[in-house]
Amino acid sequence: MLAKIRGLSFAAALCSAGAAVAQSGPFTEQQAAAGRSSYLANCAGCHQPDLRGTNEARPLVGADFMRTWAPRTAQELVAFLGVAMPPPPATPGSLGNQTYINLAAFLLQANGATPGTTALTASTSTVIGSVANGTLPDSVRTALASSAPASPSAVAAAAAAAAGGLAGLKLQGNIEGFTPVTDAQLLANPSADWLMIRGNYRAWNYSELNQITRDNVDGLQLQWSWSMTDGGWNEPAPIVRGGVLYLYNQGNVIQALDAASGELLWENKVGPGPTGSAMRGIAIFDDKVYTATNDARLVALDARTGQTVWETIIGERTEGDFQASSGPIIIKGKVVQGMGNCTRFRKEKCFISAYDARDGHEIWRFNPVATGAEPGADTWGDVSDYFRAGGDTWITGSYDPDLDTTYWGVAQAKPWMAASRGNSPLDRGLYTSSTLALDPNTGRLKWHFQHAPGESLDLDEVYERVLVDVGGDKAVFTIGKPGILWKLDRASGAYLDHHETVLQNVFDKIDPETGQPHYRADLIAHQKNEWVQGYVHHDTMRSSPRMVSWWTSAPWAEATALLMQSMTRMLL
Ligand code: HEC
Repeated sequence: MLAKIRGLSFAAALCSAGAAVAQSGPFTEQQAAAGRSSYLANCAGCHQPDLRGTNEARPLVGADFMRTWAPRTAQELVAFLGVAMPPPPATPGSLGNQTYINLAAFLLQANGATPGTTALTASTSTVIGSVANGTLPDSVRTALASSAPASPSAVAAAAAAAAGGLAGLKLQGNIEGFTPVTDAQLLANPSADWLMIRGNYRAWNYSELNQITRDNVDGLQLQWSWSMTDGGWNEPAPIVRGGVLYLYNQGNVIQALDAASGELLWENKVGPGPTGSAMRGIAIFDDKVYTATNDARLVALDARTGQTVWETIIGERTEGDFQASSGPIIIKGKVVQGMGNCTRFRKEKCFISAYDARDGHEIWRFNPVATGAEPGADTWGDVSDYFRAGGDTWITGSYDPDLDTTYWGVAQAKPWMAASRGNSPLDRGLYTSSTLALDPNTGRLKWHFQHAPGESLDLDEVYERVLVDVGGDKAVFTIGKPGILWKLDRASGAYLDHHETVLQNVFDKIDPETGQPHYRADLIAHQKNEWVQGYVHHDTMRSSPRMVSWWTSAPWAEATALLMQSMTRMLL
């Protein structure tokens, strides 16, 4: 009897949902079509061409979207887009009122609302849940797929085309004076050149050049300037070889400039065009310049001419894309590269990998998310292999030639919060939020140290590992968002010391012997649908203090939650 009643009410619920979506939406087909084009041009880089979302850019279709938006009105959606999207560094509101209305119409259609004869306006008060059900109609899926390029190289070509010209070599160079970069030069770090992202293998960011001093710095004058492309994020670290400056310009455009005159010597648009992720560095070795691309390809270009010598797609793509937002480091003829966009549940996890610098074939990979029978796989609680994610490596590693060891920082497990992952914060989730010491010849793990076990607050213990010999110690230093400066023995991984550079209240103690951090009690106890907050200093990349707070995978039911989340983002 009970079952029958349940069945009845279920059927009734279905009927009412069906009836709701049968009502035609308060927008026209033309508006939704225009919105779809704007979406692909302005939003898909972050929220993805299929609206599934990536990283913090949330899914814009399905249950996730409906939880937040079903109770709200179309007017609120238009208003939200107009003040918030696309987010900085783009200018929110920059697309103009009509475009935001069209985008809202498209999002309604993508969530199952049917177009009608009434045009959507900025004051349409229709409740979204009364016209949309969160199901992407096949027609919209097809329209998106046919206008959005599918494969990474198609994405590259189309995006580069949109960015002003076809992909490929745009200006062929002929740098006659170029001499190949040797291993010995990478080790010696000649002061007239800048051959890798942080200047030397130990990630010092230090130049021995001494012509500019405190006394003469005010006499510096502009010699030339070169435009960086607009329209996305970029955090490039140029390299210099023999008076030529090699530059990653926004949107995977690699340029060689005469460092004295600023003249463009060659340019290769390796694609895709501008996206939501910044790129941080390129590399040089022998006669080639190496770049990773935002869609996680590795491309080697002839340093003299700019011609593409080889190209390798990192990882297999049947279950979705990967990303890269920092370039490789070259170690003894191997191109060692990290990965990003490791948020999705999928069989293949992100990995650190090495490729032959001559032809790009893969030599080894190390998986920072332990699965199967691998050591550390038992630190993920009951979470099955498929649902383990994260472990992004989005900062280029460093290298100790004497110990023949490369050091990498690994980002947190995903989803961000332990409760959302189906873990307790006491499940460490190896090897996330750790320093890894790897053998660059084989990818074998020599040791690891975990700075924020099973963490929930986006603490980003991922930044550079700086190698310094100090007081008889061969140390590796690193610092993440909690502002804790860590000092480890770089041969053994043993904890040596730490220093809290700023106030943080995430950890209430750190074991003085082992360096094991201990979370505040409420962070360990946190459950789904609860706020947890911590105060930390966002140290390494930016300098303003920030709050971190994460809402578990539950709906952002309250408007205040949405606001707080947005404010948190703005403080990032
Ligand atoms: C640079 C990346 C980026 C771009 C480009 C971008 N978004 Fe977003 N979007 C985000 C992030 C990140 C969030 C989550 C905001 C937060 O956490 O405060 C978000 C949130 C949203 C939300 C709220 C989702 C929810 O579940 O509440 C909507 C709707 C949205 N974006 C639509 C758009 C549209 C439409 C565009 C194009 C005009 C766009 N976004 C462009 C990153 C982006």
